[in-house]
Amino acid sequence: MPSLHNRLPLQAPIVLAPMAGGVGTPALAAAVSNAGGLGSLGAAYLTAGQITAEVAAVRTLTSRPFAVNLFTPQRVLPVSALDVQRALDELAPFHADLGLAPPAVPEQVQQDFHAQFGAVLASRPAVCSFAFGRLDGRDLARLREGGILSVGTATSVPEARMLQADGVDAVVVQGGAAGGHRGGWWQDDLAETVALTRAVSSALSVSVIAAGGLMTADAVQAVLQAGASLAQCGTAFLLADEAGTSVPYREALLADGAHTTVLTSAFSGRPARGLSNAFSRSVRSPLPYPHQNALTRPLRAAGARAGRSDVLSLWAGEGFARARSRPAAAIVGDLTP
Ligand SMILES: Cc1cc2nc3c(=O)[nH]c(=O)nc-3n(C[C@H](O)[C@H](O)[C@H](O)COP(=O)(O)O)c2cc1C
Repeated sequence: MPSLHNRLPLQAPIVLAPMAGGVGTPALAAAVSNAGGLGSLGAAYLTAGQITAEVAAVRTLTSRPFAVNLFTPQRVLPVSALDVQRALDELAPFHADLGLAPPAVPEQVQQDFHAQFGAVLASRPAVCSFAFGRLDGRDLARLREGGILSVGTATSVPEARMLQADGVDAVVVQGGAAGGHRGGWWQDDLAETVALTRAVSSALSVSVIAAGGLMTADAVQAVLQAGASLAQCGTAFLLADEAGTSVPYREALLADGAHTTVLTSAFSGRPARGLSNAFSRSVRSPLPYPHQNALTRPLRAAGARAGRSDVLSLWAGEGFARARSRPAAAIVGDLTP
């Protein structure tokens, strides 16, 4: 089967990682697509109406292929009143510091996946990528019928095999260095990216997209040599001119040696890699995803408005010190071997 790179086709072997929650913008996705890579819209936290509007915004800026990314729906585990109180107690000093009332416990903790998926089908991007699990066979068939290529996310060889068996067109393999949420659902090896790429590429016949810590053309070349057909890069674009990265987030990324990255569930209830800050260091009893994500949303929004990086989820991969403030097209050029 021809690789995803040739099926689209692309001029540069670079996929912009979908970055839900504000970093990814239509302008960033379009700029990467216009530079010959595959731009992605991180749509996981958007309503169906917002997805339709953002896809339309991308189309005003590019006629090249791009991807839309969703999180597969998660089983919402019941949480006890005691767990909720414990989580609220941990957040209380941060709310007090920002002058916020304790949040009401949200009733709707995740987006309506079927509405989101319907909006993606109707807007017909070239690619629909997804993380956190598997799509059911009916949804994969609907993508195929709509001429939309499907891309799942794996953090280990067994997950990659399951996605291939489901019938996806390509698999993103996410190494342990990657910024943002861990994208798998069953077994996470936190593996070194080149080794995982090699292992998955030799186990699968569908295209492999390598992700995690790819900050230079040499690193991209190494994953292509290990069998990937494309490299998916997120952290390399955090400081791009077109990114929606807030000012305090940019400042934290650029602060001299002040930060390291950590895997934390403090913000959302699922492990994700970001710069260590006061919030990730102090929250020890988060609710399971997606409850914690919904519970911390008002605090994160207020922190962004107040310029307070100590309460923001500063998602970043281990390579963040090599991120550069440049137009996205120049970053695609820097990453292309
Ligand atoms: C700010 C940020 C947000 C992210 N959001 C998403 C997302 O919405 N969906 C997704 O599949 N992956 C998301 N990721 C993970 C990326 O797809 C990818 O695995 C990661 O960026 C690759 O590692 P790198 O950051 O070292 O380049 C995100 C990563 C970052 C840095």
